[in-house]
Amino acid sequence: MLQSTDFRMRKAGIWDIDELEDIEKKCFSYGRFSRTILLGFLRHPFSVTIVVEREMILASAILIFHTRTAEIASIAVLPEERRKGLGNMLLQEAETMSRRKGIVKLSLHVAIENSGAIGLYRKNGYSITETVKDYYGAGRDAFYMEREMGPPPSL
Ligand SMILES: CC(C)(COP(=O)(O)OP(=O)(O)OC[C@H]1O[C@@H](n2cnc3c(N)ncnc32)[C@H](O)[C@@H]1OP(=O)(O)O)[C@@H](O)C(=O)NCCC(=O)NCCS
Repeated sequence: MLQSTDFRMRKAGIWDIDELEDIEKKCFSYGRFSRTILLGFLRHPFSVTIVVEREMILASAILIFHTRTAEIASIAVLPEERRKGLGNMLLQEAETMSRRKGIVKLSLHVAIENSGAIGLYRKNGYSITETVKDYYGAGRDAFYMEREMGPPPSL
């Protein structure tokens, strides 16, 4: 059972780049973000990278905010830390942050064979609305998934 006291969640900064790059390498065999792209997200005024740590960074999520919508560009949990609820924790934080910013819809792309991630998103209310051919390169299709956000908790 996941104890929230076991982990700390915070926004990442430039100083986290080595660990973030390491997570990308360990979690994605293709379509992963380079160090330059990860730094670009960290520096971008409309992007937030959230991390979960316990002595070291165990999981990360990258969000890109538009005016009324937001994209989840990546969620990644170190292989040895999976199925402990960290992916879920990051997704819920992404939603809380988005609601506070007045975001009405969250979306993401996921490889069509990535049943684990698709399971995580479905469990959190995301639906497949489109299949995008060759999204990750030739022969590597993606599902586009979306979730309409409810009103902020205070309304
Ligand atoms: C997808 C990923 C982020 C899930 O992280 P996680 O911390 O293991 O997920 P959680 O423990 O919070 O799982 C929440 C729910 O998602 C679903 N789920 C997660 N991993 C699953 C798997 N491998 N198979 C089936 N369902 C899975 C389950 O419904 C799970 O609930 P349960 O454990 O009570 O059954 C993680 O497997 C990962 O980093 N994968 C590699 C990177 C990646 O593919 N990221 C997604 C890019 S779009």
